[in-house]
Amino acid sequence: MTEDQPTPKTDGGTDSVSSDDVALDPWGSSTIEDYRKLFEQFGIEEFDAEEVPEPHYLMRRGAIFGHRKYERVAEAMANDEPFAALSGFMPTGDPHIGHKMVFDELIWHQQQGGEVYGLIADLEAHSARGMSWDEIDEHARSYLLSFIALGFDPEEGELYRQSDNRPLQDLAFEIGSTTNFSEFEAIYGFGGETNVSHMQSVVTQLADILYPQLDEPMPTVIPVGPDQDPHVRFARDAAARMRYFKVTEAFASFELDDDERALFRDLYDALESDDGVDTDDLRCEDAAKHLAEFAIGDADTATRESLHEKLENGGKEPIRPRVRFLDRNASEAAFDTLIEEIPGEKRRYEAHIDSFDLDREEAADLAQKVEIEHDGYGFEAPSSIYHRFMTGLTGGKMSSSIPASHISLLDDPEEGYEKVKSAATGGRTTAEEQRELGGKPDECPVYELYAYLLAEGDDEFATRVYEECAGGERLCGGCKEQAAELMKEFLEEHQEKREEAKELLEDVDIDLSSDRRGLGGREEDDAV
Ligand code: TRP
Ligand code: SF4
Repeated sequence: MTEDQPTPKTDGGTDSVSSDDVALDPWGSSTIEDYRKLFEQFGIEEFDAEEVPEPHYLMRRGAIFGHRKYERVAEAMANDEPFAALSGFMPTGDPHIGHKMVFDELIWHQQQGGEVYGLIADLEAHSARGMSWDEIDEHARSYLLSFIALGFDPEEGELYRQSDNRPLQDLAFEIGSTTNFSEFEAIYGFGGETNVSHMQSVVTQLADILYPQLDEPMPTVIPVGPDQDPHVRFARDAAARMRYFKVTEAFASFELDDDERALFRDLYDALESDDGVDTDDLRCEDAAKHLAEFAIGDADTATRESLHEKLENGGKEPIRPRVRFLDRNASEAAFDTLIEEIPGEKRRYEAHIDSFDLDREEAADLAQKVEIEHDGYGFEAPSSIYHRFMTGLTGGKMSSSIPASHISLLDDPEEGYEKVKSAATGGRTTAEEQRELGGKPDECPVYELYAYLLAEGDDEFATRVYEECAGGERLCGGCKEQAAELMKEFLEEHQEKREEAKELLEDVDIDLSSDRRGLGGREEDDAV
């Protein structure tokens, strides 16, 4: 087995891969060695807080480092249009400061006017982690108390558990019929030994991600750690596949694949900017000649040859830019309605319709409207944001099997204090050296606590700690004492608020004593 072939485990997860490679494994023990590789390897985009109207502090501090198409959500937020945010929690242990980041992200989106959903991933906990239903109920309650204590408004948002949500399961079933086992193999490393309920929990998670759009499609953000990106990508893909129509641009009557279409666009642009060419009287055969003669676009040879052939076959057919509706899953009735509703000049083919007067956006809106009218979902591809995993207090990764490495939101405040006091730091060996060279806040788990949690919205304070440390004015002893005090205060206050949250949780329509029969549980240790 080579290192870039992940080893399947019996639960269907995969072992994480060597440190110089990046593996995104939702059930592995994720440590991300190099976040930049996520941009190159997986196409996660770099997060720029400046593009958000009033960015959250986790955005400003770089804790949220990546995204997929978050601009859709930022735009809706800026224009006061509907948007949603959803994330899920596997109830495998106590909520901890890593979950707090996600809770805060959801709460912030709620405060910005979004429809916010928090879900308990109980099917996943039972099938992929072997938790018993009793354990799941107990942990679920605890997650929700912390979520509410931190500021989630359950009256404005929705909380649910996967096992208890019928519309969600119906959606999962529908998504399941557009996916197959080979994809599970390729995406998650599942194999013949993977338990079937684990697969069901995956389609359920895809359904979770699209759930906010069940009533009405809208930009949706999924705040998660980067280990969840495979699910996000899969859900984006599932959303696209379930659409009735695919809207593309086109230039002539024949079909093009995506690469040919991109090359045709480059060719058309080149022809348009060529003074010697009259684009109003342009034939396919002329374009074929132009394509053969000039170096246009960066397509590969096969794409050039196939487009060239199609253009030659097109002969004297005039080239005219247009938008095309490709039939993907439309019923005949939906296809007919679409034709009727397209304004202006249009042409009907067997599996597509060309429209000459609509622009791309108008066409996409119309396709979505017709789809919804004809019992389709009309889903938009969901967006995501990714936060960094916090470093363990003991230096390595945070792990539930090393209690000193992380802080649970249920830790006794004194214990939290002690954990911070004994944390690893980015300090030098001696005080003299620290004064001379400065500490290394970028490598310090204590600084991370300040930046991601203790300083909250106070940027000035976070910057001061950073600069004092790097400048050698701050020594680790005092710095940890201050952080430990703040942690103690945070835990005290949070735990009081959890008490108050109990009453609010009573009123939430969620069943936390599920009374299910089932397997007894075989909990495994895990990264937190
Ligand atoms: N798989 C997630 C985890 O391991 C939990 C989860 C389930 C989730 N459904 C989701 C996260 C939907 C985000 C969105 O923690
Ligand atoms: Fe970390 Fe504080 Fe020491 Fe700097 S002074 S290395 S921030 S503990």
